[in-house]
Amino acid sequence: MCGIIGYAGAKQAAPILLKGLETLEYRGYDSAGMAVMSDGVINIQKCRGRLAALAEKTDHGQSMQGSVGIGHTRWATHGEPSDKNSHPHFSQNEQFAVVHNGIIENYQELKERLERYGYTFQSETDTEVIAHLVEYCDCGDLIRTVSKVLQRIEGSYALGVLSTREPECLVAVRKDSPLVVCRDDEAGYIASDIPALLPYSRDMYLMEDNEIVALTPGKINFYNIDARPIEKEIYHVDWDVSAAEKGGYEHFMLKEIYEQPQALQSTIQSRIRGDRIQFDGIDYTSSWVEQLTGVHIIACGSAYHAGLVGRYMIETTLQRPVNVEIASEFRYRNPIVDERQLVIAVSQSGETADTLAALREAKRRGARTLAIVNVVGSSLAREAHDVIYTWAGPEISVATTKGYTTQLLALELVAVYLGQQSGRLSQSAADALIEAICAVPELAQSALVDIAPIQQMAARHFNAKDVFYIGRGIDYASSQEASLKLKEISYIHSEGIAAGELKHGTISLIEDGSLVIGLLTQPKLREKVISNLAEVKTRGATVIAVTSMEDAKLNALADEVILIPETNPLLIPVLSVIPLQLFAYYISVYNGRDVDKPRNLAKSVTVE
Ligand code: M6R
Repeated sequence: MCGIIGYAGAKQAAPILLKGLETLEYRGYDSAGMAVMSDGVINIQKCRGRLAALAEKTDHGQSMQGSVGIGHTRWATHGEPSDKNSHPHFSQNEQFAVVHNGIIENYQELKERLERYGYTFQSETDTEVIAHLVEYCDCGDLIRTVSKVLQRIEGSYALGVLSTREPECLVAVRKDSPLVVCRDDEAGYIASDIPALLPYSRDMYLMEDNEIVALTPGKINFYNIDARPIEKEIYHVDWDVSAAEKGGYEHFMLKEIYEQPQALQSTIQSRIRGDRIQFDGIDYTSSWVEQLTGVHIIACGSAYHAGLVGRYMIETTLQRPVNVEIASEFRYRNPIVDERQLVIAVSQSGETADTLAALREAKRRGARTLAIVNVVGSSLAREAHDVIYTWAGPEISVATTKGYTTQLLALELVAVYLGQQSGRLSQSAADALIEAICAVPELAQSALVDIAPIQQMAARHFNAKDVFYIGRGIDYASSQEASLKLKEISYIHSEGIAAGELKHGTISLIEDGSLVIGLLTQPKLREKVISNLAEVKTRGATVIAVTSMEDAKLNALADEVILIPETNPLLIPVLSVIPLQLFAYYISVYNGRDVDKPRNLAKSVTVE
């Protein structure tokens, strides 16, 4: 996730900006830059890579004279990590500089309009649109200019803006992207989050959507979207720095679980255009999609589990067979793949060695390849013919949570897209799916409102020896993901099993004290899973049921029930996994495990 820092005071700005950017490093980034006002001229220095490169380029900030400035660490979303795509961005006349965190949804439309007015673009970013738009809207007063810009942009943003006309002033604003402000005796500061500002104050102003702040040395003024002055209350921070880095959460995993509604919103935003799904840069013709004989999904770990769900989604809409395969198996088994098949590689990091090798194998055999990845500019993103970013933001915890659920939603978008392009998905069915997709972020939010019952459940079961997750159909896929989540961070033995397979062997493991978690989200398979739960219950298992439909029969059978919100059965895996992520998280905490860095595991598996 990008990081913003800003300073308006009496000291040299650049060293202060560099120090703030260092504190924001944990958010993840691929490039960094600063803009400092110097004698009425804006000096921008930026480069791809680590902050050390920017520090070296600017002689640790000493070569950038000036006491008002903005800094940025970039996590690429639009355009690969590169010097020219790094922030800050200049307006055409170089009188304004902008840093941005978030995604401007209507940037393409704005870009085309600005190009017609004669603006030329140096980068592939959505942010540069804002810089030119500031110049276009310039009315001589930076607050009112920014207010005009806000009427024209859609999406999520935290912005920092400098203007040569008001060289002592730094203006910032936010919508759906965090921004905090503070001051000390001599200066004002902005940042994407609290840790970067703790060296200066513990009294923060937390910016709300569409509030604008203007910092000048010794003064902070707040305005609403119409540029009218407003008052803001101070929020006093009493956490320590390490907790603050995690946004007040004890672990990155918990923070990332809570980030899911926002991450899911980012995944869908700008991809739903009217009653159709569209992806920038991808244009599969109807005749090409129509002639496809099948689809392969290749991935590892949780991304493979997302693929298992994706199979149901794509087979429903495209009505062609979908093969889902673990990448390390696919790459060595002489797969039957040709140019009439689409191969989708799914990966959070985009660097997983087996997935990359499987993608290369598929390309070698003539298939068209599509990468669904989170990290912009990663190897998979570069090597696949086409790429769809999940836009989940950086994921730091080894156990993936928001990375996984955004993959599910991206796969559903792909499913609707392929169904529409092939003509096999009726418009009414597409409308229903699109409506359900749009509702997912809010439903995910509702699944996070009251987590105390899950925490208490984990407290009752944290010393379980074996945990079995069972389900049928799409719930079998979710069972495998829930099981992986638990075992990788708690070190408790667990299996995700197709409920109908229990009687073919695994049921012999069930005895007094076994914990069986049944997923029952698919109406047509519900009775079958209830029967399977009854079978384990009579053999002494404790039963937890995860369902969106409670009834007397299930309540009588299950020892505990986790209720999840209702949605389209194809989308319910996004919601059913959330309480199970939390269950795994608290079991890991109660066992005293290293939640974010479980033993023997790496975040990105770049070796075979
Ligand atoms: O970066 P990728 O999505 O390609 O990673 C694949 C797996 O290594 C990953 O999902 C792994 O299984 C996670 N630790 C699960 O939480």
